[in-house]
Amino acid sequence: MGIDFFDFKREIAAEGAEILAALEKALRSGRYILGEEGARFEERFAGVCGCRHALGVASGTDALFLVLKAWGVGQGDEVITVANTFAATALAIAYTGATPVFVDIAPDSHLIDPRCIEAAITRKTKAIIPVHLYGQCADMDAIMAIADRHGVAVLEDACQAHGALYRGRQAGGLGHAAAFSFYPTKNLGAYGDAGAITTNDADLDGRLRLLRNYGQTDRYHHVIKGYNSRLDELQAALLNAKLKRFMDWTARRQEVARRYDEHLAGINLIPLRLEEGSTHVYHQYVITVPERDALQEHLKSRGIATLIHYPVPLHRQAAFGDARVVGDLRQTELRAAQILSLPVHPWLKDQEVDQIIGAVLDFVRR
Ligand SMILES: Cc1ncc(COP(=O)(O)O)c(C=O)c1O
Repeated sequence: MGIDFFDFKREIAAEGAEILAALEKALRSGRYILGEEGARFEERFAGVCGCRHALGVASGTDALFLVLKAWGVGQGDEVITVANTFAATALAIAYTGATPVFVDIAPDSHLIDPRCIEAAITRKTKAIIPVHLYGQCADMDAIMAIADRHGVAVLEDACQAHGALYRGRQAGGLGHAAAFSFYPTKNLGAYGDAGAITTNDADLDGRLRLLRNYGQTDRYHHVIKGYNSRLDELQAALLNAKLKRFMDWTARRQEVARRYDEHLAGINLIPLRLEEGSTHVYHQYVITVPERDALQEHLKSRGIATLIHYPVPLHRQAAFGDARVVGDLRQTELRAAQILSLPVHPWLKDQEVDQIIGAVLDFVRR
């Protein structure tokens, strides 16, 4: 039997009854946009992130874009981020008219190198977007110190880090604002597109509530040119139902990761390092190996699905030819050729994890 990278069939088999009940309740409510389910989810998700405010939007991409818009980022401005991320991080910057500025990642992790941020700051820099890639938070204390020194805003891209801790504090409450995605495969996933923004800044929350809803204060009264980007009631109901279980699923991801760590740490060029009080929520379990392509082929021949997050860094993509690149992005490029994501979803069985470990070790010892 093959092993899929993600398995929705198992998720539905395990959780289907509760999910269907939540959907039916929302369907019968007769209200599908900005209703009770969304408000309930916002309150609960703010709690998950240890934040005063959370607001639902249509996707993680919109969450990033709307925060930048609310901060007034636009043409002529620069926003610093990494090139080893999903394209949406930089697309959101580009949508505002600002220029993405790509800096390198640290030599011993997959995360932005704070030393490279300092070197990239100019008078045009308006914001920094650290990406909590794979489910581990970037070095936020160092990043916030740099941001404070230069008076720039920090937007966490927490689209892969629901529930992750950084030195005892939750992702989403570490910067000035954070963006989350509930794309179906995320650790907390909807069954369609959905996203959220978290912040402790009440003014920002207020502006974002206008921006996501056509700039309306009251129905048909528009004070700014806003957008249509709401979390709909059906997705909010699903998320409310899943929220009860999502930390259990995270714990299962962490258990699978521990099993991998135990057997594969020796072959991983970038083994995980966590600060005291920090956790990894394993949206992806990534190993860094010299013969990545051959290993991926070998696993495929054994029926094991793997993915690469991400094979082409954004500064090498035609779409971002007009971005600014600071430094040679040596670590980013090295990593892109060596990373491989193994299945880590909560529905994996121990025996499947052992099968994957066995297949990797067979390749290494061949
Ligand atoms: C790091 C990162 N940023 C942004 C996004 C965009 O989120 P969405 O797909 O919900 O627009 C994603 C996920 O897809 C992501 O993984």
